[in-house]
Order: sequence, then C-alpha cells, then structure tokens
Amino acid sequence: MEINYLEDQFLSKTLFLHEEFLEINYIPDILIHRETELILLSKIFVKLLEDPFLISRKVTIQGEIGIGKTVIAKTFGKMLLMSSEKRNLNIKYIHINCRKEKTPYNILNRIFFHLNCKFSSRGYSVQELITFLEDYLKKSQIYLVLTLDELNYLQFSNFNLIYSLSRLNETNYDRKNFISLIIIVRNLILLGNLDDSTKSTLQGNIISLKKYTKNQIIDILSARIKISIKQDVFSTELIEYIASQIESSGDIRKGLNIIRNSTKIAESKELDKVSKKEIDSALNNIIPNLQFDIIDSLNLHENILLFSILDSIIDFGESKITFVEIKENYGKLCLNLHKTPRKNTQLWIYLQHFANFGLISINTISKNIKGRKSFISINDLPIETMHKKLGNKIRSFNSQM
Ligand SMILES: Nc1ncnc2c1ncn2[C@@H]1O[C@H](COP(=O)(O)OP(=O)(O)O)[C@@H](O)[C@H]1O
Ligand SMILES: [Mg+2]
Repeated sequence: MEINYLEDQFLSKTLFLHEEFLEINYIPDILIHRETELILLSKIFVKLLEDPFLISRKVTIQGEIGIGKTVIAKTFGKMLLMSSEKRNLNIKYIHINCRKEKTPYNILNRIFFHLNCKFSSRGYSVQELITFLEDYLKKSQIYLVLTLDELNYLQFSNFNLIYSLSRLNETNYDRKNFISLIIIVRNLILLGNLDDSTKSTLQGNIISLKKYTKNQIIDILSARIKISIKQDVFSTELIEYIASQIESSGDIRKGLNIIRNSTKIAESKELDKVSKKEIDSALNNIIPNLQFDIIDSLNLHENILLFSILDSIIDFGESKITFVEIKENYGKLCLNLHKTPRKNTQLWIYLQHFANFGLISINTISKNIKGRKSFISINDLPIETMHKKLGNKIRSFNSQM
C-alpha cells in the first residue's frame, strides 16, 4: 500500500506545543493576578500548620464563571500539602465538584475514595456515613480540608450536609477538630433561603473574586499561550482582540476555548498563524460556559429530550417547535436506545429546567377553548455544536450501560 493517510496526518504540522495545557483543569505553576486571594487564604489557614486539630475554618469563595475560583482553591490545596508534608502533619486536601457529585451520598463516597478508605457504603444513610467519616478521621488522625466546588448544583434539600460536616468538629468529646471547609459558589445569593445554621457556616469568611481587567486577561492568556502553542502563532494584537471579546464576562475559560478552537481551525486550513477570521469562527461555535456546564450535568433523559429539540429544529429548519413534535422525536429516540420514555409531566419539568437556565424559551399561546399550545425555541446558542455534543454524550451514556 502506497498511500497511508495516517502517516500524512502524523506528519502534518501542528501549531500546538502542549494542547493539554489549554484544558480548563490544568493548574498553571504560577497564578498571576490572584496573589491577594492566595495570601488571604494562607492567613486564614496558617494556624492549621501549628496544630491542625485545634482549629477549624470555613471559607466561601464566590465569583462569576471562569475567573479562577477552582484554580485558586486547588493551588492553595497544593501549597497546604507542601507545607504540611514539610512539618510531618497528616493534612489531606480534597476537592469535590458538586456538579459531578450532586448528592451528599456521592460526595461522601468521593471523600472516602480520596482518603483511600475502602469500604462498602451501600445501605448506609448519609448520617451514618458522616459518623463513619468522623470515626475514620479520628482513628487515623487525619485532618481534612474539604473543598465543595460549584455548590449551587447541590439541591437545596441537601444543604444540611454542610452543617453536619461542620458540626463534626463540635460533637466529639475531646473537642478536637478534624475538618475545615472551603465552599465555592457563583454567588451566595443564588443559594436561596438557607437555614440559619448553614448560612452562618457559609458566611464566616467570604472571599469575593473580582473580574479580571482586560490587561490582566491579556497577561493570563499570553502566559498560557506561551506554554501551549508554538511561538508567533498568536500575535500580541490578536491576544488583545480575544481579551476584548471576553472582557465583559472576564471568563478565562472562554478565552482558553477560543484559543484552542481557533488554533485547530487554523491547523485544518494549514495556516501557520491564527488570524482574526479563525477567532471569529471559533467564537460563533462556542457554547457559553454557563449553558455548557448545564448541558454537562444533564441526566440521560434530559439529554435525550434536549437532543430531540435540537434535532427537530435542525430537521424542520424552523426556529420553534411544538411540545407534541418534540415528544414524538423524543419517543422515537428512546425506542432506538431501548429506554422507557418519561411521562409528560416529567418532560415538562425538564423543559422548565432548561428554560430556567436559559437554554430554551417556552411560549404558550391560548388557541381556543380546546386549549393552549406551547412553542419551544432554542435561545441564542450554537445549535449545531450543542447537537453534536449531546449526541456524543448520549452515545457515551449508552456505551456505559
Ligand atoms: N490568575 C490566573 N492565572 C492563570 N490561569 C488562570 C487564572 N485564573 C484563571 N485561570 C485559568 O482559567 C481557567 C478558568 O479558571 P477556573 O478556576 O476554572 O474558574 P472558575 O472556577 O471561577 O469557573 C482555568 O483553566 C484556570 O487555570
Ligand atoms: Mg470552577
């Protein structure tokens, strides 16, 4: 065989040095423009390094999407571990994302997993698991610094978990402490009506992150481009242009996605530089991060339902469709996937959920005495990109089963 396209691909020029450094979860060695926050966290926790079991701290970090909340906590976690190892202390830092672990049961299981504590939690109540955690920490003399990230994804009814965890320190007879909490939310107000005890837990130390300025965005993006993409692919003016596109939200995640996607577009055109044109096409295909996170957190049926809406819209070439049309498409998809379709009432709950997060709009018009008709449309979002993402997700759900 003479022609091998695989070899061609292999030889084709890449513009990346380390594409993986553009991933959102990558933790840069240096966190520029967040020194103040890291120093503040260090001041709050420094006593822990004298005698951890004497104190317990509760800190809430709040701020909009993509402005460094997660990376600050993780960087601080790394610093804490370094200092604790240096002093032979048994401090563990565990970072849990509540968008992935949505229930107290899952969160606790995740904690046990990270503590390397192997036991079967099946059949235990949440309260029993908390008691078990307490016993385990005491027995092993471990001090736990626990970050609950994206707490807004935990259902309100489960918020007493936070209270129970923070109480863990007070209930034991020798008054030793075993846990400190770092809570991360977009905005404390979004958490709604919390009971007083949880509220007081969360409102201890609040670190509110400000959005980055345009110049700070330029610094952060430039540093990231330097380690992940070949020299001269992005000009200074181009980085400024990207920064001006994300200045209003201050969302670095969006900036990183633009950089990565536009580089891929340039690669596919076999260019050796990225220009404004590639940035613009990357911008048009990016799902805003809030909606992206929501999509990421959907369960299988929500996923199928949203996919059917997009599918029908693309298929019919219309901007809005009726509930009946969606339901029909959804039913077909469920059949293909060998799943039992959810009932109408449940589907409406899902639709309302999509609407609450700004994915869709529902327009209901009273037709006549016979009743009302509802039209569903997708908000100003890249339909094709979302369709593709959801399709992939459904496939991966299916392959897991
Ligand atoms: N000050 C900074 N310096 C370097 N990278 C940063 C900084 N702030 C944010 N980032 C990067 O931006 C992305 C988004 O940050 P993240 O902490 O995930 O935001 P949030 O949790 O607020 O949504 C991450 O990839 C992170 O590494
Ligand atoms: Mg985050």
